[in-house]
Amino acid sequence: MNHKPIEGFSKLSKQHKIDWLINEYLQGNQEYQQILQQYWNDNPDLQKLHEEFSENTITNFYMPYGIAPNFLIDGKLMALPMAVEESSVVAAASKSAKFWLERGGFKTTIINTEKLGHTHFIFKVEAHKLLHFFNFTLKKKLFEATEDITANMRKRGGGILDIKLIDKTSELANYYQLKASFNTVDSMGANFINSCLEQFGKTLKEEVAQSDAFSEDEKNSLQIVMNILSNFTPDCIVRAEVSCKIDDLKDDSGISNEEFAWKFKQAVTIAEIEPYRATTHNKGVMNGIDAVVIATGNDFRATEACAHAYASKDGKYKSLTHCTTDNGIFRFWIDLPISVGVVGGLTNLHPLVKFSLALLGKPSAQELMSILAVSGLAQNFAALRSLVTTGIQKGHMKMHLFNILNQFGATEEEKQYFVNYFKDKTVSHHEVISELNKLRNK
Ligand code: MEV
Repeated sequence: MNHKPIEGFSKLSKQHKIDWLINEYLQGNQEYQQILQQYWNDNPDLQKLHEEFSENTITNFYMPYGIAPNFLIDGKLMALPMAVEESSVVAAASKSAKFWLERGGFKTTIINTEKLGHTHFIFKVEAHKLLHFFNFTLKKKLFEATEDITANMRKRGGGILDIKLIDKTSELANYYQLKASFNTVDSMGANFINSCLEQFGKTLKEEVAQSDAFSEDEKNSLQIVMNILSNFTPDCIVRAEVSCKIDDLKDDSGISNEEFAWKFKQAVTIAEIEPYRATTHNKGVMNGIDAVVIATGNDFRATEACAHAYASKDGKYKSLTHCTTDNGIFRFWIDLPISVGVVGGLTNLHPLVKFSLALLGKPSAQELMSILAVSGLAQNFAALRSLVTTGIQKGHMKMHLFNILNQFGATEEEKQYFVNYFKDKTVSHHEVISELNKLRNK
């Protein structure tokens, strides 16, 4: 069927948007209309709030919001909020938290909190002339021109840390950058950074136009291409780690502590040298991070992009976590670059985000960085622990069992039957269906 394009969709009311969609794409089927309405919140104010987070909203898309308790982080016991649709993630985090609770918990260190942004520009001028202009005229003007924008941030202890001129002409003809570093304190800082950078672009243009250091031809060649923060923040970075005696690893899977430690370290080393494995390994790390990032109203696309760029920083995609087993000590850690905020954005607007931050004891942005690194490390520990012992399917399929049963509209009684049925068997999709058919035909 050929569909017609629509003009002014965004201007239609929610109901009119839905009517148009149902008629144009769903053959007028009213069941779909009911599905959309089922997910509207009964509280009209709350519904409106959610609609206004984004554009063209017609309903809400729910995700499970779970809790992984027993996280001992830097001596504080915490329950982590996790918004995630994948089964096993919250269970794995909880298992890992419990394991390390009994072995001293997680320790974290903030290594640095510097964020970056660039004004990218093309300027047909000799590099030394531009550098002289930057050092003796422009840099000061850039700070002055952004004083109003940075006033509040400076009051909170942040602001622009430094601005550098970067010569990129060997990679692209006449390409330079103003590379600025920022401290955005408790905010993620995207709006702040971008506002500063857009002012840099304007000031650069104005100062070049007024300068007598450049010829008219040179002045006319200046093009500000764009001003934008970088989501790659290798200097906004936190380390989270766990360690214990190999003798204390005591795994219940039946293999010895030494064999467990050896296999675990091999698994990490494989992810350090083999990008195919590193991708899945880091996906598991991000299972833990994204769930808490979403629950705390932060931007999971930014944290994903940053983590994967960092994983490739040596020219090859590698594991984000590392492990040593020297002198009888098992040590496992992550260095995670991550830029998040606890003020601004959704943090004061989304009721569940407010709840998450309250649950975490109203952390600072640095404390949230630590919590996120711990969540990623814990998730990776749980995945590797299963992978090098029982395999992941045993636990995974047990959680997946409920998804399969729900697909077939299983009753609570049927679910209980299957929990008992698979107590000492590995769950398989095929067996669930065939056993369910038998049960129902009895
Ligand atoms: C599944 O979402 C994540 C894992 O594949 C991660 C890993 O293999 O390390 C279990």
